Amino acid sequence: MKLAWPIEVAGTGAYIPTKVVTNDDISKVVDTSDEWIAQRTGIRERRWVEAGEATLSMATKASQAALADADLTPEDIDLILVATITPEYQLPATACLLQAELGCGWIPAYDIVAACSGFVYALTSGAQYLINGLAQTVLVVGAECLSTITDPLERGTCVLFGDAAAAAIIRPAQDARTSILAGRLGADGGRGKLIFIPGGGARHPATRTTVDERLHYMKMQGREVYRFAVTQMHRIIRETCADAGISTDELTLVVPHQSNLRIIESAVRKAGIPMDKVVVNIERYGNTSSASVGVAFHEARAQGRIAPGDLVLLVAFGAGLTWGSLLMRI
Ligand code: ACO
Repeated sequence: MKLAWPIEVAGTGAYIPTKVVTNDDISKVVDTSDEWIAQRTGIRERRWVEAGEATLSMATKASQAALADADLTPEDIDLILVATITPEYQLPATACLLQAELGCGWIPAYDIVAACSGFVYALTSGAQYLINGLAQTVLVVGAECLSTITDPLERGTCVLFGDAAAAAIIRPAQDARTSILAGRLGADGGRGKLIFIPGGGARHPATRTTVDERLHYMKMQGREVYRFAVTQMHRIIRETCADAGISTDELTLVVPHQSNLRIIESAVRKAGIPMDKVVVNIERYGNTSSASVGVAFHEARAQGRIAPGDLVLLVAFGAGLTWGSLLMRI
């Protein structure tokens, strides 16, 4: 859908845990190798939380960094959206706890569950409040502690995931040229169980059996998800650019979900975009789900890869299955 939402990113931040887990570390636990993981996924290391750290502490640090970057205080925020599939607790929303941690007022705060598309879903949702005048300054966070839901004995998943948090503060644009130009969100619940956690919800509440059967860990049919991603991601990129009336050549930068280097390369090749216009950090962090696009976007800003007037496309897919894109003129 073609949009003209006059919204700007006022600040960004990220928090990456310091504990580095290499492919060799993982190879000591399951039957895999640095060569297999690097070749099939592009991942060399991922970061996992240390004892005492979890989703909320990472979200807090990323948010504080974004506030400092935007030169704002917690009192300036009037809505918090946290995208996560690994909330601090099942109840209450991590966003509410974050509100208190940061020292914001009694502003609305809630979580969004859209897995790896979470950051794009949350940014799009936050933008609606700005457009409708219900908020002036929105804090959007993607935070994941995936090491807590990844089965360390399952080689199909344990090599992929890392922990991280990212934050962005959005508000009405100060410069008339800055805006969100297009965006697409979608979901196919028919394929919901391609990536899911069977235990711990209402269907299979936690029991000794669910723990013994390892049902609280993420289960994934990787090959099917891979097929979906390589057939859909380039389409989403093309369709979003078409919605905005631009060609993919005009994009300054693409910030894709860091799921698998082969998926990213295939998607941008099919969309006709050279890799030097694509942000890639998967080799260091692995897949950090809701945090992934936010961390990559923050790093691109911090490295000076994004300048006023640039056309930047965020694009993601993940469990749900969900997908989302957002094209911004910075
Ligand atoms: N080390 C060594 N061998 C492995 C490993 C491993 N870590 N994992 C799987 N294998 C084996 C399999 O057992 C299989 O062996 P077999 O042929 O003897 O049966 C073989 O490698 C090939 O398995 P595939 O699953 O077909 O491997 P593939 O090339 O597809 O790579 C991967 C697997 C990396 C998981 C890939 O499918 C992928 O990236 N899928 C997408 C994942 C994703 O992006 N998820 C979405 C986001 S997750 C979220 O939303 C939270």
